[in-house]
Amino acid sequence: MKYYLAPMEGLTTYNFRTNWNRCYGGMDKYFTPFISNRHMNSRERNDVLPEHNVGMYTVPQILTNKAEEFLSLAEQLAGYGYHEVNLNLGCPSGTVVARNRGAGFLGTPRELENFLDEIFEKCPLEISIKTRIGMDYMDEWAPLLKIYQKFPIKELIIHPRLQKEGYKGTPHLEAFAEAVEALQCPLCYNGDITSPESLTQILTKLPSIDTVMIGRGILQNPGLLQELKAASTESVALPSCEERLAVLKEFHTSLLTGYQEIMSGDTNTLYKMKDLWTFLSHSFESPDKYVKKIRKATDASDYKLAVNALFRECALQSENS
Ligand SMILES: Cc1cc2nc3c(=O)[nH]c(=O)nc-3n(C[C@H](O)[C@H](O)[C@H](O)COP(=O)(O)O)c2cc1C
Repeated sequence: MKYYLAPMEGLTTYNFRTNWNRCYGGMDKYFTPFISNRHMNSRERNDVLPEHNVGMYTVPQILTNKAEEFLSLAEQLAGYGYHEVNLNLGCPSGTVVARNRGAGFLGTPRELENFLDEIFEKCPLEISIKTRIGMDYMDEWAPLLKIYQKFPIKELIIHPRLQKEGYKGTPHLEAFAEAVEALQCPLCYNGDITSPESLTQILTKLPSIDTVMIGRGILQNPGLLQELKAASTESVALPSCEERLAVLKEFHTSLLTGYQEIMSGDTNTLYKMKDLWTFLSHSFESPDKYVKKIRKATDASDYKLAVNALFRECALQSENS
């Protein structure tokens, strides 16, 4: 099985990716959150700079519906030494969709096909695509698959939900099965992998899957990849509870230190860290009271006190729970 880290805007920054890779490691690919400015802003540029992605196979992601913009960014990324670029056809956010980008582009299939025609003809890099299965209706998927059949897609990553579903409900595994039948290109499954059991359930229904992308599951439990690997092969041992806690602490500290170095002032740093706690709190049993204190912290020293209390007093969720 190959494992990819999902792109998550504001969360899987280069600071997150490099520290996660150092503390846990083992992802086959790391996708950057989307780049949407033809002239990359400093956040976007820092995210893809080669010196911020050492020792990882990183795939930059682009969000646009303009071929010219995509090609201009791809050219710049080729200059940084990248070989692969990913197109975002999955973002469900209202502002993105309203501008016909992300999952919104799926709603205008003719324009999408013209766009793909041009970028596949001219792009200096290999192109992978991350897609949803349509905007509003399941019957949008079959025509989209017909479009995807026409292009030499390096890899199609499928999050089998409609745009209108956001992250609600359960992924439509039958839509992924349709893609297995229809397409020759490599496929990657993405969606709701949060434990070895959830992966097993998906693989039982879709046994041909050999590549999965994981997002929220890693934010909730940064040690998840090791658990998945340990569950599927006896050659990977699970760390003890003490070891898991020690690595998590180290990961958290290095992430915080990294943001303090990159960002100006405690407010911005804490904003980033608090965002992460929305997910990371799932690693602990009964964390609410402690997370509340973390959220209330207004400077780094208050924040550290609140986090230390949580690490000291809350037990880690037992594995697989
Ligand atoms: C806060 C947040 C930010 C995201 N940002 C991106 C993004 O920049 N590009 C992208 O393709 N998907 C983005 N996604 C979608 C994830 O990559 C992934 O497809 C989704 O979370 C489902 O996978 P999961 O169940 O493993 O989390 C984002 C999701 C969330 C919740």
